[in-house]
Amino acid sequence: MRQTPETGPRHVAFIMDGNGRWAEKRGRPRLLGHRAGAKRVREIVEACPELGVEYVTIFAFSTENWKRTQTEVAGLMSLFRRYIQTEAQTLLEQGTRVRFIGDRLRLDAKLRSLMDGIEALTAHNTRCHLTIALNYGGRDEVARATKRLARDVAAGRLDPESVDDNTLPRYLDTHVLPDPDLVIRTSGEARISNFLLWQSAYSEYEFVDTLWPDFTRGHFEEILGRFGHRDRRFGGVKA
Ligand code: IPE
Ligand code: IPE
Ligand code: MG
Repeated sequence: MRQTPETGPRHVAFIMDGNGRWAEKRGRPRLLGHRAGAKRVREIVEACPELGVEYVTIFAFSTENWKRTQTEVAGLMSLFRRYIQTEAQTLLEQGTRVRFIGDRLRLDAKLRSLMDGIEALTAHNTRCHLTIALNYGGRDEVARATKRLARDVAAGRLDPESVDDNTLPRYLDTHVLPDPDLVIRTSGEARISNFLLWQSAYSEYEFVDTLWPDFTRGHFEEILGRFGHRDRRFGGVKA
């Protein structure tokens, strides 16, 4: 099933939730759930260009996830390093361009250099755009953007009177990306947990009960099928 540009979402963003519960249900450590989740990332990212989804964004680690145990945080960081190392070649060959959003400064140097490396390696790909939100928080992103905007005003590069709703997006980490058309959250929680606050103003939302490690391409295709029946009005009236 391929979406047509008229009916399918161009940009899908995922809040990949439920890895911990998936593992706990099996009496296993939470990290095992994260590992199982990483396998689903592969499946879903590979499916995107085949399903006509041009942009896919995944929430991998939030600015609030540092509150977890040191063991879980270290395990996740090691999983991110491994994911980049093992997937780089495949993503390059699939024509996928990889980008990261979020505050990189708190991440360790080794991970940061792998992130820079895969961004540079895939920079010429245009078939699909994968954005990984790592140490990302919507409020943190808006705060960092505002700081840069304020610096431009202070330096005389930006006239405060010219600021409108097109100004801030130019300072956001997502400045080169279209807004998400569809945000999917797994695991049954119906909240956005500080994800893409500005960008999702008119996104459609799907909250599904499936835990992320159980979320398959089949589930994704089912959601994409429903998307075509949604009536997006953007504040206007039905055409
Ligand atoms: C999502 O799964 C992955 C990350 C937040 C890194 P969780 O780890 O939040 O899984 P649950 O919500 O505890 O089941
Ligand atoms: C959101 O999930 C963050 C990621 C998926 C990376 P959380 O599990 O951290 O969100 P809350 O704590 O349930 O709101
Ligand atoms: Mg969670």
